[in-house]
Amino acid sequence: MSRPRSTNNFLLFCVATAIAALLTYLLWHFSPNLNYLLSERMGAHPDPDTIINVLKLILIGVVAYLFVRALNSLIFGLTFRLRNGFEAPTLVRNVFTIIAFTIFFLIAFNSYFPDVNLGALFTTSAIFGVIFGLALQDTLGNFFSGISLQADRPFQVGDVITVGVLRHTGVVEGITWRAIKIRTFQNHVVIINNSTAAKEPIEVGPRENLNARIVYFNTLYTDSPAKTIHVVREAVREADNVSQRVTPIVRIRNLGDNGVEYEVKYWLDDYAKYNDTDALVRQRIWYAFRRAGLNFAFPTRTLHVERKPKPGVLEGDGGAIIERLAAVDIFAPLSADETGVLAQAAVSHVFAPGETVIRAGEPGSSMFVVHNGRVCVQINENGRPRTVATLNEGDFFGEMALFTGEPRTANVVALEETEVLEIGHAAMKTVFDTNPDLVESLSFIMAERRQGLAVKSDASIAPDESAGILSAIKRFFGLS
Ligand code: CMP
Repeated sequence: MSRPRSTNNFLLFCVATAIAALLTYLLWHFSPNLNYLLSERMGAHPDPDTIINVLKLILIGVVAYLFVRALNSLIFGLTFRLRNGFEAPTLVRNVFTIIAFTIFFLIAFNSYFPDVNLGALFTTSAIFGVIFGLALQDTLGNFFSGISLQADRPFQVGDVITVGVLRHTGVVEGITWRAIKIRTFQNHVVIINNSTAAKEPIEVGPRENLNARIVYFNTLYTDSPAKTIHVVREAVREADNVSQRVTPIVRIRNLGDNGVEYEVKYWLDDYAKYNDTDALVRQRIWYAFRRAGLNFAFPTRTLHVERKPKPGVLEGDGGAIIERLAAVDIFAPLSADETGVLAQAAVSHVFAPGETVIRAGEPGSSMFVVHNGRVCVQINENGRPRTVATLNEGDFFGEMALFTGEPRTANVVALEETEVLEIGHAAMKTVFDTNPDLVESLSFIMAERRQGLAVKSDASIAPDESAGILSAIKRFFGLS
């Protein structure tokens, strides 16, 4: 069984400290003997004291390095993690180590070699400066870019980033004084120089942020958008790693050549797993489509051949339309043939939830029967819509303008996906000609609805009101 890396490091550190402590003790304890030995063997040149001081300085350097490492782990590994919940960036730790070590070393150097002027060595050597500058040009560039990246803190270890025009995408594993290390979704490690990263655009998906993804799909034009949106939304919100905090959004992005193009936008709990989650979302959509009888669009060309309907014969959904009209109260007195004629004249329209079927104030020369779905009748009261009635399957509306020739009295809005059957003026006139009683029952209903339209009115229907409507209808349709 392999030990964790941190334990190995700790053991190594302990061994190195023990060895350094032992060597230091030995050097200090036996330095007079060593001095004696060296002067015996080499004489006065080089000076044995200088050699021993150099050895002492090296050992002090090693001990100082170990001490700085321990201090570093204590401050950044432990205290920083306890306070902030994550480890300090490697770059910060390295800078701390370099500065602290340099300070310790210079103090030790100064105490053993007080005559050597280190400052003059650095400042007076122009050649040294040029060589140093050229050799470290890239390294220093990376170093300072790294510092500026750390100062801005645009991302942290664990965030998903996409860097540059080559769009290297992956999870940040480390930020050192030289480079950013990311692990791609193919489990490769990409190292990007800090100076390169500082010049490139970087897209960040922070770990603590609610990041979103968009997945696309197409359906046939015959599939209902309201149903598709509902089915996909429910299927996606259940998938693993899809955040429960925000409901996924499903919307039409284009009416394309090959079908209706949709996008589903969802938010992830763990953005680093977006590839798997995208795939799961697509899979859920497929199964949901299968269950709901929806169809993915594929490149198709639909050839429409227009067939003239034979007079008196209803095509396709005709049976259902006849059944629907026969179940409408006001058409109850009609014979089967008359209902058939009406059904023949009826034109079906589908409205999306929230769409307006009829707008108040507009002229109208047809009435409607709700075939599937629900609508509400709204009037404008002090600038706000007030619902006066909700009409269900088998109810009718739009008769007021049709029968009186006046403008529409109210807005009628689809509450869900709704199919209505529109019947025009000519068809209704035929029906009235053969069923004069129909006009009377209609005039009662219309009088009742008019009462409903009156704002906060408690009054009952005045008998002369329906009589007035009756004569208006007769006049309008030229009935005796
Ligand atoms: P019309 O005026 O042509 O257009 C709006 C329609 O809303 C109207 O015909 C009626 O069919 C319907 N309507 C108006 N008021 C009511 C009501 N109180 N109850 C039910 N339907 C109504």
